[in-house]
Amino acid sequence: MELIPSENIVSEAILEAMGSILTNKYSEGYPHKRYYGGQKYIDQIEDIARDRAKKLFGVPYVNVQPYSGSPANLAVYVAVCNPGDTVMGQSLPDGGHLTHGWKASATSMFYNAVQYHVKENGYLDLAEIERLAVEHKPKLIWVGATAYVREFPFQKLARIADKVGAYLAADIAHITGLVIAGAHVSPVPYVHIITTTTHKTLRGPRGGMIMVTAKGLKKDPDLGKKVDRAIFPNLQGGPHDHTTAAIAVALEEAAMPEFRRYGKQIVSNAKALALELIKNGMQLVTNGTDNHMMLMKCGKGRGILLEKALDAVGITVNKNTVPRDPSSPFYPSGIRLGTPSITTRGMKEKEMRAIGKWIASVFHVIEAYDLPTKKEEIAGYLKKFEAVLERNKEIKKIHNSVKALCKKFPAYR
Ligand SMILES: Cc1ncc(COP(=O)(O)O)c(C=O)c1O
Repeated sequence: MELIPSENIVSEAILEAMGSILTNKYSEGYPHKRYYGGQKYIDQIEDIARDRAKKLFGVPYVNVQPYSGSPANLAVYVAVCNPGDTVMGQSLPDGGHLTHGWKASATSMFYNAVQYHVKENGYLDLAEIERLAVEHKPKLIWVGATAYVREFPFQKLARIADKVGAYLAADIAHITGLVIAGAHVSPVPYVHIITTTTHKTLRGPRGGMIMVTAKGLKKDPDLGKKVDRAIFPNLQGGPHDHTTAAIAVALEEAAMPEFRRYGKQIVSNAKALALELIKNGMQLVTNGTDNHMMLMKCGKGRGILLEKALDAVGITVNKNTVPRDPSSPFYPSGIRLGTPSITTRGMKEKEMRAIGKWIASVFHVIEAYDLPTKKEEIAGYLKKFEAVLERNKEIKKIHNSVKALCKKFPAYR
């Protein structure tokens, strides 16, 4: 059972497009302006993908060629900044993505990255964002995250970005499907640029897109062309045409009325799961969720123990930092959970209640364990811990229940 919020299960039509002969083709350039021959159908496919995205999001300019979310983000820097310019983004331990200027990312090597944070209660610290923006005058501000459970205040960020003349880029990788479904406010009226992966709540192939809004073109009429140039030839070579076709399929699927119901169900399921976890004594960052994701506090450094114990019952999650985490990002104090994949399989609130109870029971099993404080003792400790889990009767019982539920909701029929 897949509860990693960035993962999903694609349709057979998308698998078919990804496995198609389009993988054999080279097509550097853009539709009707290529560096290779034989593009009659490739041009049609890329035109269709771009047109579908424009229509679905209500934006005038789209690039569907980024190989994934990280290259899409790098292209935004290349399009609007010069090396050394100041940029701002949400810090990684506070839920931001590596590519928003975290110290381990090339984005902080090539640009002067200032990081903003969440407050102790888990909500974005808007006062700090405004103070840092006024102090550092960034050229580019990112809004969007990898581990943030509340609605992004796009309008408030836009006021701050406009005040200091910065470009505002929304990275909606996690919430794209929710935005399309009307289950999360759209950034389109407020930001200049939008980036997204195509494989999370959008339920498409692994890939990326960059969109320029009407507001973006008003700030710089050449912004679309600058984004295109940043992707090719600045950063990438030939687009992955089989992925472009699969993105076109995903966008068609997302335009169907069922997708609106799907996106709303993802959020209803997350709220139901959050409620059940809280009812069973679990602690969630911000005490709940507005989107598809929850962050659960496990106690100092215990994220890895709960991740492993849930693995033992057949539930996949990832360990994650929580606000003001007393431990390190590699041994953080929380886990991250999400509902996109189980919603795709057709599970609803009733199943969320069962899953919430199982997670709480697994948490009670690991409560008696603590990660050693000496780093060199951790590997041996985890090995023993896994052996203990294998013998635990409660773990075995829950594993059987998880398997039975998964059989009732197959990923593919
Ligand atoms: C907010 C956000 N942006 C960008 C990315 C990067 O996407 P990819 O892993 O496809 O490069 C992710 C991936 O988790 C993400 O969560």
